[in-house]
Amino acid sequence: MISSVSAIRDRFPALQRVHEGKTVAYFDGPGGTQVPASVAGAVSDYLLRHNANTHWGFPTSAETDAVVAGARAAMADFLDGSPDEIVFGPNMTTLTFHVARALGRRFPPGSEIVVTELDHRANVDPWLDMARMWNFEVRTVPFRSDTGTLELSDFESVVNSRTRLIAVGGASNALGSVNDVEAVSAIARRHDSLLFVDAVHSTPHLPVSVEVLGCDLLACSPYKFYGPHVGVLWGRRDLLEELDAPRLQPAGEHAPERLETGTLNHEGIAGTLAAVEFLASLDSSSGERHARLGRVMQELHHRGDQLASRMWQGLSAIEGVRVFGPAAGTAPRTPTVSFVVDGVVSAEVSRRLASEHAVFCSYGDFYASDVTKRLGVEVTGLVRAGAACYTDFEEVDRLIDGVSAVARSAGSRSP
Ligand SMILES: Cc1ncc(COP(=O)(O)O)c(C=O)c1O
Repeated sequence: MISSVSAIRDRFPALQRVHEGKTVAYFDGPGGTQVPASVAGAVSDYLLRHNANTHWGFPTSAETDAVVAGARAAMADFLDGSPDEIVFGPNMTTLTFHVARALGRRFPPGSEIVVTELDHRANVDPWLDMARMWNFEVRTVPFRSDTGTLELSDFESVVNSRTRLIAVGGASNALGSVNDVEAVSAIARRHDSLLFVDAVHSTPHLPVSVEVLGCDLLACSPYKFYGPHVGVLWGRRDLLEELDAPRLQPAGEHAPERLETGTLNHEGIAGTLAAVEFLASLDSSSGERHARLGRVMQELHHRGDQLASRMWQGLSAIEGVRVFGPAAGTAPRTPTVSFVVDGVVSAEVSRRLASEHAVFCSYGDFYASDVTKRLGVEVTGLVRAGAACYTDFEEVDRLIDGVSAVARSAGSRSP
């Protein structure tokens, strides 16, 4: 039995916030979700009662070791890996640059790498940087602008025996499309290529299992799933153990520590453990955390589908509004729906939604700049409405009413 949305909402103090006389509806989750009180409590408890550096023989240091070990175990349950395959870092982008630097050193001259147009720059630019440094060829998989999806045939036509790495997202943070990573993994295997998955936008919305996906490396960001600003990298144990990653000579020699540079964000890691515990706690059964997380993420995916359908139907029915990405019900997606209001730049739509309806939506290109370019909205930008586990139907209706009002006023101004 998974907690109801109203029970979930009670755990998020930010949902009490009032703006211009109305309770705030947060649709900015794809940029970073709100956190439950338990996550903020874990961060503060760590700093106030257990704060120390690691590996020393006194209680606060041992408690810090236990927090880090506990968080590795929690993230391993969340991603279906092992604790010694979980690397912590400041954010997904920094971890990806780090791993790209290490991978570049092992690929032979003449290697090729594959990136996609649908991805966030954080899963493109570190690989372009690597390619520039080592003179590797970069092949780009286009996305279909009508459906917002990647086609397997487009991977097939660029992957070849020289491909050493395919970098693909689990889901698009701009359009909400969910990619068929398992099928991309089969292509990678056939060509003896590594597969790196940016799971930043999929982990908050779907069950993500590194085993099922069949990837070699995967990165995500707990601040997108109710945790603090930390990055997490999962890597196959043997790969992490042998990667020639830049590291200080006295630092840990073995995975996962050998991939971690400098002192970690212990309070953020304490909050990451609490974020995974929060998600697991939504299932009230007494089973193993790994199994509870699987059920919770499956149910959140299902709820997300219902929210996405309502958002898609409501927004696409408004005259002067264009929605992008896979139409709800036609292809797997997250409840992240991007749109434009003709005649109103996205920053202005966002400003009016906030000031007149207390609906907080982000806008721009969300660092998925190839997407906005291909959709022809790189100047005016997209407005992005992203539902989270605390989003209810009243908020979705308020979003739709707010966008209708903006579109009506734009329509009445046009000649
Ligand atoms: C899909 C996706 N990938 C990567 C990133 C970058 O993550 P981080 O901020 O942890 O570097 C983001 C951030 O918005 C994202 O949405």
